[in-house]
Amino acid sequence: MNQKQITIPYHLRSNDKLSDTEQTLVAKAREAAEKAYAPYSGFHVGAAVLLSNGEIVSGSNQENAAYPSGICAERTTLFYANAQYPDASVEALAIIAIHGGEVVPSISPCGACRQVMVEVSYRYNKSYKVILAGKDKSVVLEDNRMLLPFTFSGDDLK
Ligand code: THU
Repeated sequence: MNQKQITIPYHLRSNDKLSDTEQTLVAKAREAAEKAYAPYSGFHVGAAVLLSNGEIVSGSNQENAAYPSGICAERTTLFYANAQYPDASVEALAIIAIHGGEVVPSISPCGACRQVMVEVSYRYNKSYKVILAGKDKSVVLEDNRMLLPFTFSGDDLK
């Protein structure tokens, strides 16, 4: 037996215990969620990133009648942030979802978004904080890479 284990460190914090910056990011993500285009799922997701240049960029999921053509809030936001500010690294990302008028208890990003989130840390050689916000409590991971163990990255292509 040579079983190995991976543990994922995270904090579960009351929203009022988040730092001012974290609360601002969650508020921006929530505003973005309220602008989501999600007529098919009714699942409104918002994301907000803090960049190293101090800018906060937010975005939401954008659905499509041809379902796979839609895109999640995380990728909308990260792609836009990186397109707009290619020289700025990501310092923190907050995500929140609203379903049936209620904030979902801590949204978890899909696999495709986790892969894109990892690519961003690979691109800027810097991991970043992720806040999975719920109504009262949030999951806070100090290192985005923890969300995708056994990552496929640019290193695999060398
Ligand atoms: N969605 C996101 O935007 N982010 C996630 O982390 C999970 C799912 C979107 C995709 C789709 O528009 C809707 O939520 C339902 O899956």
